[in-house]
Amino acid sequence: MIAFDEIVRFAKSRLKDDTTGHDFWHGQRVARLGQRLYQADCEKQQVRPDPETRDLIHVAGLVHDTIDEKICSDPEATLEALKHTLEHAGLTSAQEADVVMTITHMSYSKNIKQRQSLSLSGKYVQDADRLEALGAIGIARAFTYGGRVGNKIYDPEIRPVKLVSHEQYRHHESTTLNHFDEKLFHLEALMNTSSGKHLAHERTLYLKAYVARFKEEWDGTDFNPDK
Ligand code: ADP
Ligand code: NI
Repeated sequence: MIAFDEIVRFAKSRLKDDTTGHDFWHGQRVARLGQRLYQADCEKQQVRPDPETRDLIHVAGLVHDTIDEKICSDPEATLEALKHTLEHAGLTSAQEADVVMTITHMSYSKNIKQRQSLSLSGKYVQDADRLEALGAIGIARAFTYGGRVGNKIYDPEIRPVKLVSHEQYRHHESTTLNHFDEKLFHLEALMNTSSGKHLAHERTLYLKAYVARFKEEWDGTDFNPDK
């Protein structure tokens, strides 16, 4: 039996002060959504039901951002503390290795140059995390993150670019609206799992409608005095 309460305590203590969209509740949503996607694919007989895979999705979802370079000042020390917690919470060394592999290889930035291979549980966690960048919550997270790093909402003179490296992803001058073109609209094509693809499609449509509406308001074309 895994002591999930210990893992929740670890995640809460590490993520409690985050205001960039990577807080504890983001981890909990990723854990829940990842499990729901997995459950749905099991029911559609896309994958074999396995309680261990479900548990690994739950654990990795909760802690995936605790070692993120954006969140913590010392990712290596945090990873060591996390390993200790996982062991204490009752994970076997193979289960711990699965979680560590997932959370150290799943980020968007680490997958720009070359796609990293993930375990079955890792594929669901990565899809759930990417889905958190889409939909209504994804929009909120994008503008929060963009504001935090000093980016403008939109500037028609700054064009979107094609992202080719981690460095460029983190440091090029851009706007949050460009981030939709540069990253968010590409996520749907990167999904690993059947349910993840389906939900990514829905959430991307929502995002596209939002951007279209944003541009209408910017251009003034949503205003019709005759209506
Ligand atoms: P990952 O967690 O896979 O490393 P990121 O940390 O880059 O991915 O993204 C996490 C969240 O921050 C997402 O919701 C994403 O849209 C948002 N984000 C990342 N970079 C930017 C940016 N330049 N502008 C706006 N939002 C961003
Ligand atoms: Ni995340």
